[in-house]
Amino acid sequence: MSTLAVATPAPNAEPRHIGVHPLTGLIGAEISGVDLTQPLDAAVVDEIKAALLKWKVVFFRDQPLTHDQHVAFASAFGAPTVGHPVFGFVEGHPQVYSVARDRFAERHVGEPLIRPWTGWHTDVTAAVNPPAASILRGVDIPPYGGDTLWTNLAVAYQGLSETLRAFVDTLRGVHYFSPPEGQEATESFIKKNQARPLVSEHPLVSVIPESGERVLFVSPSFLKRVTGLHPRESQQLLELLFEHIARPEYTVRFRWQPGSIAFWDNRATAHLAPRDIFSLDFNRQLYRITLRGEVPVGVDGRPSTAIKGDPFEAYTPSNAH
Ligand code: SIN
Repeated sequence: MSTLAVATPAPNAEPRHIGVHPLTGLIGAEISGVDLTQPLDAAVVDEIKAALLKWKVVFFRDQPLTHDQHVAFASAFGAPTVGHPVFGFVEGHPQVYSVARDRFAERHVGEPLIRPWTGWHTDVTAAVNPPAASILRGVDIPPYGGDTLWTNLAVAYQGLSETLRAFVDTLRGVHYFSPPEGQEATESFIKKNQARPLVSEHPLVSVIPESGERVLFVSPSFLKRVTGLHPRESQQLLELLFEHIARPEYTVRFRWQPGSIAFWDNRATAHLAPRDIFSLDFNRQLYRITLRGEVPVGVDGRPSTAIKGDPFEAYTPSNAH
Protein backbone atom coordinates (compact mmCIF):
# COMPACT_ATOMS: atom_id res chain seq x y z
CA MET A 1 0.00 0.00 0.00
CA SER A 2 1.22 3.49 -0.79
CA THR A 3 1.55 5.83 2.14
CA LEU A 4 0.69 9.13 0.51
CA ALA A 5 -0.33 10.77 3.76
CA VAL A 6 3.22 10.54 5.10
CA ALA A 7 4.52 12.91 2.49
CA THR A 8 1.64 15.37 2.27
CA PRO A 9 3.29 18.81 2.43
CA ALA A 10 3.50 19.92 6.05
CA PRO A 11 1.69 23.12 7.00
CA ASN A 12 3.94 26.12 7.42
CA ALA A 13 3.42 29.76 8.30
CA GLU A 14 0.74 31.45 6.20
CA PRO A 15 2.33 33.76 3.61
CA ARG A 16 1.59 37.42 4.28
CA HIS A 17 2.85 39.02 1.06
CA ILE A 18 1.66 36.63 -1.66
CA GLY A 19 -1.28 34.31 -2.29
CA VAL A 20 -0.47 30.58 -2.49
CA HIS A 21 -3.24 28.46 -4.05
CA PRO A 22 -2.58 24.68 -4.09
CA LEU A 23 -3.59 22.90 -7.30
CA THR A 24 -3.54 19.29 -6.07
CA GLY A 25 -3.14 17.57 -2.72
CA LEU A 26 0.51 16.71 -3.25
CA ILE A 27 2.21 19.02 -5.74
CA GLY A 28 1.84 22.42 -7.39
CA ALA A 29 0.52 25.79 -6.28
CA GLU A 30 -0.35 28.98 -8.12
CA ILE A 31 1.06 32.20 -6.68
CA SER A 32 -0.83 35.48 -6.90
CA GLY A 33 -0.28 39.05 -5.73
CA VAL A 34 3.16 39.61 -7.22
CA ASP A 35 4.44 41.50 -10.27
CA LEU A 36 7.53 39.70 -11.57
CA THR A 37 8.47 42.55 -13.92
CA GLN A 38 9.52 44.52 -10.80
CA PRO A 39 12.34 43.85 -8.32
CA LEU A 40 11.03 41.68 -5.47
CA ASP A 41 11.23 42.48 -1.74
CA ALA A 42 13.25 40.01 0.34
CA ALA A 43 10.07 38.99 2.21
CA VAL A 44 8.33 38.08 -1.07
CA VAL A 45 11.37 36.09 -2.24
CA ASP A 46 11.37 34.18 1.07
CA GLU A 47 7.67 33.35 0.77
CA ILE A 48 8.06 32.14 -2.82
CA LYS A 49 11.01 29.96 -1.70
CA ALA A 50 8.90 28.50 1.12
CA ALA A 51 6.04 27.75 -1.30
CA LEU A 52 8.50 26.12 -3.71
CA LEU A 53 10.02 23.93 -0.99
CA LYS A 54 6.57 22.79 0.06
CA TRP A 55 4.74 22.46 -3.30
CA LYS A 56 7.79 21.61 -5.50
CA VAL A 57 6.49 23.61 -8.49
CA VAL A 58 4.82 27.02 -8.38
CA PHE A 59 3.05 28.86 -11.18
CA PHE A 60 2.48 32.53 -11.97
CA ARG A 61 0.01 33.94 -14.49
CA ASP A 62 0.06 37.12 -16.61
CA GLN A 63 3.77 37.91 -16.24
CA PRO A 64 4.88 39.08 -19.70
CA LEU A 65 8.61 39.16 -18.92
CA THR A 66 11.37 40.13 -21.34
CA HIS A 67 14.51 37.97 -21.39
CA ASP A 68 16.24 40.52 -19.13
CA GLN A 69 13.35 40.56 -16.65
CA HIS A 70 13.36 36.75 -16.67
CA VAL A 71 17.08 36.82 -15.77
CA ALA A 72 16.46 39.43 -13.04
CA PHE A 73 13.62 37.37 -11.53
CA ALA A 74 15.70 34.16 -11.59
CA SER A 75 18.70 35.95 -10.05
CA ALA A 76 16.63 36.76 -6.94
CA PHE A 77 16.65 33.00 -6.16
CA GLY A 78 20.13 31.86 -7.15
CA ALA A 79 22.82 32.07 -9.80
CA PRO A 80 21.60 31.47 -13.39
CA THR A 81 23.68 29.02 -15.40
CA VAL A 82 24.44 29.31 -19.09
CA GLY A 83 21.17 28.46 -20.91
CA HIS A 84 22.09 24.81 -21.54
CA PRO A 85 25.48 23.14 -21.06
CA VAL A 86 25.20 21.13 -24.29
CA PHE A 87 22.50 22.74 -26.45
CA GLY A 88 23.40 26.42 -26.11
CA PHE A 89 21.45 29.57 -25.41
CA VAL A 90 19.50 32.41 -26.98
CA GLU A 91 21.74 34.75 -28.98
CA GLY A 92 22.52 37.80 -26.85
CA HIS A 93 21.00 36.22 -23.71
CA PRO A 94 23.48 33.61 -22.47
CA GLN A 95 21.43 32.60 -19.41
CA VAL A 96 18.30 31.84 -21.47
CA TYR A 97 17.59 28.49 -23.17
CA SER A 98 15.02 28.25 -25.94
CA VAL A 99 12.41 25.54 -25.36
CA ALA A 100 11.19 25.44 -28.94
CA ARG A 101 8.57 23.04 -30.23
CA ASP A 102 10.92 21.28 -32.65
CA ARG A 103 14.13 21.28 -30.60
CA PHE A 104 14.31 17.46 -30.54
CA ALA A 105 14.13 17.17 -34.35
CA GLU A 106 17.72 18.36 -34.66
CA ARG A 107 18.88 15.90 -31.98
CA HIS A 108 17.10 12.60 -32.65
CA VAL A 109 16.02 10.69 -35.77
CA GLY A 110 13.12 8.24 -35.86
CA GLU A 111 10.28 7.35 -33.55
CA PRO A 112 11.04 6.56 -29.90
CA LEU A 113 9.79 3.47 -28.19
CA ILE A 114 6.90 4.79 -26.08
CA ARG A 115 6.83 3.63 -22.48
CA PRO A 116 4.79 5.12 -19.60
CA TRP A 117 7.87 7.16 -18.56
CA THR A 118 9.07 8.22 -22.02
CA GLY A 119 9.98 11.91 -21.91
CA TRP A 120 9.98 12.24 -18.09
CA HIS A 121 13.16 13.86 -16.81
CA THR A 122 14.77 16.13 -14.26
CA ASP A 123 16.78 18.87 -15.96
CA VAL A 124 20.45 18.15 -16.79
CA THR A 125 21.06 15.27 -14.37
CA ALA A 126 23.98 14.29 -16.61
CA ALA A 127 25.86 17.04 -14.73
CA VAL A 128 27.35 16.28 -11.32
CA ASN A 129 25.44 19.29 -9.97
CA PRO A 130 22.08 19.37 -11.77
CA PRO A 131 20.28 22.74 -11.58
CA ALA A 132 18.67 23.52 -8.23
CA ALA A 133 15.65 24.99 -9.98
CA SER A 134 14.28 25.80 -13.42
CA ILE A 135 12.10 28.76 -14.39
CA LEU A 136 10.12 28.28 -17.61
CA ARG A 137 8.28 31.17 -19.29
CA GLY A 138 5.49 30.74 -21.83
CA VAL A 139 5.54 33.08 -24.85
CA ASP A 140 3.92 31.45 -27.87
CA ILE A 141 1.32 28.96 -26.66
CA PRO A 142 -1.01 26.76 -28.74
CA PRO A 143 -4.76 27.36 -28.24
CA TYR A 144 -5.00 23.81 -26.95
CA GLY A 145 -2.45 21.11 -26.15
CA GLY A 146 1.13 21.46 -24.98
CA ASP A 147 0.48 21.11 -21.22
CA THR A 148 3.46 20.18 -19.02
CA LEU A 149 3.30 17.69 -16.12
CA TRP A 150 5.47 17.57 -12.98
CA THR A 151 5.77 14.79 -10.43
CA ASN A 152 6.74 15.04 -6.75
CA LEU A 153 9.74 12.75 -6.18
CA ALA A 154 9.54 13.09 -2.38
CA VAL A 155 5.99 11.75 -2.36
CA ALA A 156 7.02 9.07 -4.88
CA TYR A 157 9.78 7.95 -2.49
CA GLN A 158 7.29 7.72 0.38
CA GLY A 159 4.94 5.71 -1.85
CA LEU A 160 7.43 2.81 -2.08
CA SER A 161 7.29 0.01 0.46
CA GLU A 162 9.62 0.39 3.42
CA THR A 163 11.61 -2.62 2.19
CA LEU A 164 12.13 -1.20 -1.30
CA ARG A 165 12.98 2.23 0.16
CA ALA A 166 15.68 0.64 2.30
CA PHE A 167 17.12 -1.05 -0.81
CA VAL A 168 17.06 1.99 -3.14
CA ASP A 169 18.57 4.11 -0.34
CA THR A 170 21.80 2.13 -0.93
CA LEU A 171 21.94 2.48 -4.74
CA ARG A 172 23.58 4.84 -7.21
CA GLY A 173 23.10 5.18 -10.95
CA VAL A 174 24.75 6.63 -14.06
CA HIS A 175 23.15 9.55 -15.93
CA TYR A 176 24.00 10.91 -19.40
CA PHE A 177 22.42 12.42 -22.52
CA SER A 178 21.26 9.97 -25.18
CA PRO A 179 18.26 9.81 -27.53
CA PRO A 180 15.09 8.16 -26.20
CA GLU A 181 15.08 4.37 -26.56
CA GLY A 182 14.58 3.36 -30.19
CA GLN A 183 15.80 6.68 -31.65
CA GLU A 184 19.12 7.47 -33.34
CA ALA A 185 21.25 10.49 -32.47
CA THR A 186 21.75 13.09 -35.23
CA GLU A 187 25.27 14.19 -36.12
CA SER A 188 24.62 17.54 -34.47
CA PHE A 189 23.61 15.75 -31.21
CA ILE A 190 26.75 13.59 -31.31
CA LYS A 191 28.99 16.60 -32.00
CA LYS A 192 27.48 18.70 -29.23
CA ASN A 193 27.76 15.86 -26.72
CA GLN A 194 31.37 15.23 -27.71
CA ALA A 195 32.16 18.91 -27.27
CA ARG A 196 30.69 18.88 -23.74
CA PRO A 197 30.56 15.28 -22.50
CA LEU A 198 28.60 14.95 -19.24
CA VAL A 199 28.29 11.67 -17.36
CA SER A 200 27.60 11.51 -13.62
CA GLU A 201 26.81 9.01 -10.92
CA HIS A 202 24.06 10.11 -8.52
CA PRO A 203 22.44 8.39 -5.55
CA LEU A 204 19.00 6.97 -6.40
CA VAL A 205 17.76 8.65 -3.24
CA SER A 206 19.06 12.10 -2.40
CA VAL A 207 18.42 14.32 0.59
CA ILE A 208 17.16 17.91 0.31
CA PRO A 209 19.47 19.88 2.61
CA GLU A 210 16.92 22.47 3.87
CA SER A 211 14.20 19.96 4.78
CA GLY A 212 15.96 16.60 5.20
CA GLU A 213 13.34 15.17 2.82
CA ARG A 214 14.40 12.09 0.84
CA VAL A 215 13.60 12.13 -2.87
CA LEU A 216 13.60 9.32 -5.40
CA PHE A 217 16.17 11.01 -7.63
CA VAL A 218 15.48 9.06 -10.81
CA SER A 219 15.42 10.98 -14.08
CA PRO A 220 14.10 8.55 -16.71
CA SER A 221 15.60 10.28 -19.78
CA PHE A 222 19.10 10.39 -18.25
CA LEU A 223 19.44 7.51 -15.77
CA LYS A 224 20.72 4.54 -17.78
CA ARG A 225 21.91 1.95 -15.29
CA VAL A 226 22.18 1.18 -11.61
CA THR A 227 25.74 0.69 -10.42
CA GLY A 228 26.55 -2.82 -9.20
CA LEU A 229 23.46 -4.57 -10.62
CA HIS A 230 23.41 -6.98 -13.55
CA PRO A 231 22.06 -5.27 -16.72
CA ARG A 232 18.69 -7.05 -16.57
CA GLU A 233 18.32 -6.38 -12.82
CA SER A 234 19.11 -2.73 -13.43
CA GLN A 235 16.66 -2.46 -16.33
CA GLN A 236 13.81 -4.07 -14.43
CA LEU A 237 14.36 -2.05 -11.27
CA LEU A 238 14.55 1.21 -13.24
CA GLU A 239 11.38 0.36 -15.15
CA LEU A 240 9.59 -0.22 -11.85
CA LEU A 241 10.83 3.09 -10.42
CA PHE A 242 10.22 5.11 -13.61
CA GLU A 243 6.68 3.83 -13.90
CA HIS A 244 6.14 4.49 -10.20
CA ILE A 245 7.14 8.19 -10.33
CA ALA A 246 4.71 8.78 -13.22
CA ARG A 247 1.66 7.74 -11.15
CA PRO A 248 -1.04 10.38 -11.74
CA GLU A 249 -1.60 11.04 -8.01
CA TYR A 250 1.95 12.37 -7.64
CA THR A 251 1.56 14.81 -10.54
CA VAL A 252 0.18 18.20 -11.51
CA ARG A 253 -0.66 19.21 -15.09
CA PHE A 254 -0.26 22.84 -16.15
CA ARG A 255 -2.15 24.56 -18.96
CA TRP A 256 0.08 27.28 -20.38
CA GLN A 257 -0.94 30.78 -21.43
CA PRO A 258 1.33 33.49 -22.83
CA GLY A 259 2.93 35.12 -19.76
CA SER A 260 2.66 31.99 -17.58
CA ILE A 261 5.71 31.03 -15.51
CA ALA A 262 6.48 27.63 -13.99
CA PHE A 263 9.20 27.57 -11.33
CA TRP A 264 10.19 24.12 -10.07
CA ASP A 265 12.52 22.61 -7.52
CA ASN A 266 14.62 20.52 -9.89
CA ARG A 267 16.02 18.50 -6.96
CA ALA A 268 12.61 17.14 -6.00
CA THR A 269 10.66 16.83 -9.26
CA ALA A 270 10.69 15.31 -12.70
CA HIS A 271 8.64 16.75 -15.55
CA LEU A 272 7.26 15.64 -18.88
CA ALA A 273 7.65 17.80 -21.96
CA PRO A 274 4.43 17.41 -23.97
CA ARG A 275 4.28 15.19 -27.05
CA ASP A 276 0.79 16.05 -28.28
CA ILE A 277 2.18 19.24 -29.85
CA PHE A 278 3.89 17.19 -32.55
CA SER A 279 0.50 16.19 -33.90
CA LEU A 280 -0.77 19.80 -33.93
CA ASP A 281 -0.01 22.55 -36.40
CA PHE A 282 0.63 25.24 -33.78
CA ASN A 283 3.91 26.73 -32.69
CA ARG A 284 4.98 26.50 -29.03
CA GLN A 285 7.82 28.65 -27.71
CA LEU A 286 8.95 28.86 -24.11
CA TYR A 287 12.20 30.06 -22.52
CA ARG A 288 13.96 28.49 -19.57
CA ILE A 289 16.53 29.66 -17.04
CA THR A 290 18.18 27.16 -14.70
CA LEU A 291 19.77 28.03 -11.35
CA ARG A 292 23.13 26.56 -10.40
CA GLY A 293 22.73 23.50 -8.18
CA GLU A 294 24.84 21.84 -5.51
CA VAL A 295 26.15 18.28 -5.85
CA PRO A 296 23.39 15.93 -4.54
CA VAL A 297 24.12 13.83 -1.48
CA GLY A 298 22.76 10.35 -0.76
CA VAL A 299 21.22 8.96 2.40
CA ASP A 300 24.68 7.64 3.38
CA GLY A 301 26.21 11.13 3.04
CA ARG A 302 28.08 10.26 -0.18
CA PRO A 303 27.95 12.98 -2.83
CA SER A 304 27.39 12.38 -6.53
CA THR A 305 30.53 12.02 -8.65
CA ALA A 306 31.41 13.25 -12.14
CA ILE A 307 32.48 10.42 -14.45
CA LYS A 308 32.95 12.87 -17.35
CA GLY A 309 32.71 16.62 -17.56
CA ASP A 310 32.88 19.70 -15.38
CA PRO A 311 30.13 20.97 -13.08
CA PHE A 312 27.33 23.04 -14.64
CA GLU A 313 28.43 26.39 -13.27
CA ALA A 314 26.79 29.78 -12.97
CA TYR A 315 27.03 31.92 -16.09
CA THR A 316 30.06 34.17 -16.45
CA PRO A 317 31.06 35.93 -19.69
CA SER A 318 33.97 33.49 -20.01
CA ASN A 319 31.93 30.26 -19.88
CA ALA A 320 29.22 31.12 -22.43
CA HIS A 321 30.46 29.30 -25.50
C1 SIN B 1 11.65 21.32 -20.18
O1 SIN B 1 11.92 20.13 -20.26
O2 SIN B 1 12.27 22.06 -19.44
C2 SIN B 1 10.51 21.88 -21.02
C3 SIN B 1 9.19 21.38 -20.65
C4 SIN B 1 8.16 21.75 -21.68
O3 SIN B 1 8.46 21.88 -22.87
O4 SIN B 1 7.00 21.91 -21.31
